[in-house]
Amino acid sequence: MSAPPATLDLTDLDLFVNGGHHAVFDWLREHDPVHWNATRDGSGFWAVTRHGDLVTAYREHGVFSSAAGAMLGGSIGSQIDSATGLMLVASDPPRQRQLRHVLHGAFAGHLLDRVREQVTGLVDRAVDRALADGGCDFATEIAPELPAGALMAMVGLDHDQARHLISLTRRMIGYRDPVLTEGGGTDRFGLAETQAEIFEFFADLLQDPRMTRGDGLVGLLSRATLNGRPMSEEEVLFNCMNVAVGGNETSSYTACTGALTLTAHPEQHERLLSEPVLLEPAINEMLRWASVNAYVQRVAKRDFELGGTTIRAGESVTLWNVSANRDARVFDDPHTFDITRTPNRHLAYGSGIHRCIGAQVAQIELETLFGRVVRDKIRFTLAGPPAPLRSNFILGTTSLPVHVTAERHH
Ligand code: HEM
Repeated sequence: MSAPPATLDLTDLDLFVNGGHHAVFDWLREHDPVHWNATRDGSGFWAVTRHGDLVTAYREHGVFSSAAGAMLGGSIGSQIDSATGLMLVASDPPRQRQLRHVLHGAFAGHLLDRVREQVTGLVDRAVDRALADGGCDFATEIAPELPAGALMAMVGLDHDQARHLISLTRRMIGYRDPVLTEGGGTDRFGLAETQAEIFEFFADLLQDPRMTRGDGLVGLLSRATLNGRPMSEEEVLFNCMNVAVGGNETSSYTACTGALTLTAHPEQHERLLSEPVLLEPAINEMLRWASVNAYVQRVAKRDFELGGTTIRAGESVTLWNVSANRDARVFDDPHTFDITRTPNRHLAYGSGIHRCIGAQVAQIELETLFGRVVRDKIRFTLAGPPAPLRSNFILGTTSLPVHVTAERHH
């Protein structure tokens, strides 16, 4: 047995900021695949790290409940109990099934066409500007235009509103990052305050008849029924927030990791530019490589044996997508970035009944951006050090200065 890494504490944010988490997960998958991570408050959680065990836990949703929220400590901080059963990602069947059915309406085909159109316009504008300037901060000037376009198409926001909402969700998810919270946000008050601002944002939209009568997310939810009764205002607000947080903080950070990884692997970048058919596998590889949603939390409803370890009823269990996506049992050379990788059974979107409802939207956003890169043979080179988001839940990039050039430009 090789010596364990210096820290095995998965709540240590420095570990993720420094990129040391991959070595820790390599060790855990080999030696302690269902690991008890004690926490300072005397409690702790299980960390599940092998691909096969994650798939089992995702499938056993009757055992592993989502009701406590996807993030350790509750995805909405102190309001955890009030979100249970109200917000799609924090609910179990049968309510999860009903909510998911309602929310599917916000991802209908004609809305996806609108997402593609809107994102294309914004990406073209941002990329053109970066080319004219010779570079930009990819993380703040290009990547956020992906969710901005999706929000404009799916919710009916204008660009300023979309960027404002993105700044709020970014602050919420980055509540422990001094860059995003202007030095504050080291406690949960910052988190709760930002959540309250997001609620107010959507509560204002609920007062706007153009929103409530329209075919966007707000109209859809405000007219929806659950088990024959209208959705409560609280349910509407929680699920608007779920879509906003789920959408804003994931595809844009995946795009950052994608661009950053292409700068680190120029031979892969050149291959992508010369073989456009590799766009789809390249995006899948970026999703695997980024594993933006590092883990999701579940709570065991009864005792269950997973990967040879007995998990007891009531215990918190974290499923580490970022670890499963580097599991050599499933991926050859898992630490090699390979845009030709097929099949690519990554778990970036999770698995089972909660598997990302926005995966198609994310796929459209990423195809639009990297499609433009391939079409115009756009190259990025680093113009300064990238800044990783200070989080173990969402693996993101808050700043990515790049030089940008294109072979073709119209
Ligand atoms: C690269 C982009 C994305 C990644 C990596 C990602 C990741 C995930 C993961 C891992 C889950 C499962 C959570 C769980 O099992 O507890 C999830 C669920 C969800 N995602 Fe995404 N997501 C992405 C994009 C989006 C987008 C664009 C939207 C909306 C526009 C979205 C909205 C949601 C929602 C509402 C859920 C909850 C689904 C449910 O509980 O049934 N996501 N996402």
